[in-house]
Amino acid sequence: MDKYAVIGNPVAHSKSPQIHAAFAHATGQGMTYERLLAPKDAFAATVDAFVRDGGFGLNVTVPFKLEAHALADSCSARAELAGAVNTLKREHGTWYGDNTDGPGIVRDLAHNLGVALAGREVLVLGAGGAARGIMSALLAERPHSVTISNRTAHKAADVARLFSRFGNVVAAAPPALAGRAFDVVINATSAGLADAAPPPWPGTIFASAGFAYDMIYGDAPTSFLLWALRHGAARTADGLGMLIEQAAESFLLWRGVRPATGPVFALLRPAGSS
Ligand code: ATR
Repeated sequence: MDKYAVIGNPVAHSKSPQIHAAFAHATGQGMTYERLLAPKDAFAATVDAFVRDGGFGLNVTVPFKLEAHALADSCSARAELAGAVNTLKREHGTWYGDNTDGPGIVRDLAHNLGVALAGREVLVLGAGGAARGIMSALLAERPHSVTISNRTAHKAADVARLFSRFGNVVAAAPPALAGRAFDVVINATSAGLADAAPPPWPGTIFASAGFAYDMIYGDAPTSFLLWALRHGAARTADGLGMLIEQAAESFLLWRGVRPATGPVFALLRPAGSS
């Protein structure tokens, strides 16, 4: 049986083993997939031990995506741009790194939620690794514009510069968004926004028929999505679909077969649950 795992810290909450077990069962692949808790200061050593144990591939989660990028012997262009790796594949005794978050969110929006980005005004909140991981995939959908806005404004300006060759991307400090409204607003911050302090953005950023997407997921609606609904967003979705779709992309990279994702939605969020 070929060995795979999700590596992170913490990792006990991860739904990836359930997702990949369902994919493996549905596609008839002989593989195991476990959770691998790495000490925060021993990512590389934990990966080495996994290889000695016969490991074939890893999903990488918080807080190791940047270290995984540094550890990879070679990377896809999209992982290089993001500076972050969420998928490692063992190839000829070396690690190949990819980042499947971008295709994951775009497929969830377009295919599962029916939200086309072409011609739309998109706002991304946050300018860390999560935001960088999705920018090129969002721009490839040919939106009218992607505005990136961050609490620490200069980081958003850096990201806008980095991705400007892929489309119309502009940075805006949170106060500069007063009076602006967007068709699609994506929370790519690491915070459950509006958890404690109010978010730094004005509540007027949601167009009246606007869509709010939270890359964070939870069993109940996230605080960002509740905030969005209070401020007039018409529709919302959390990041469970992105998690499932990025997993399918990783599975494709490892096994050469793309699993159907519909049945896994039904497994993780049965009809009638939030
Ligand atoms: P990740 O890899 O998850 O993106 P990161 O690189 O540490 O993590 O980036 C976290 C992002 O969330 C940053 O954009 C951060 O804003 P700052 O650059 O100003 O720190 C954003 N963030 C975290 N907590 C936040 C909060 N309470 N309000 C607004 N933005 C927040």
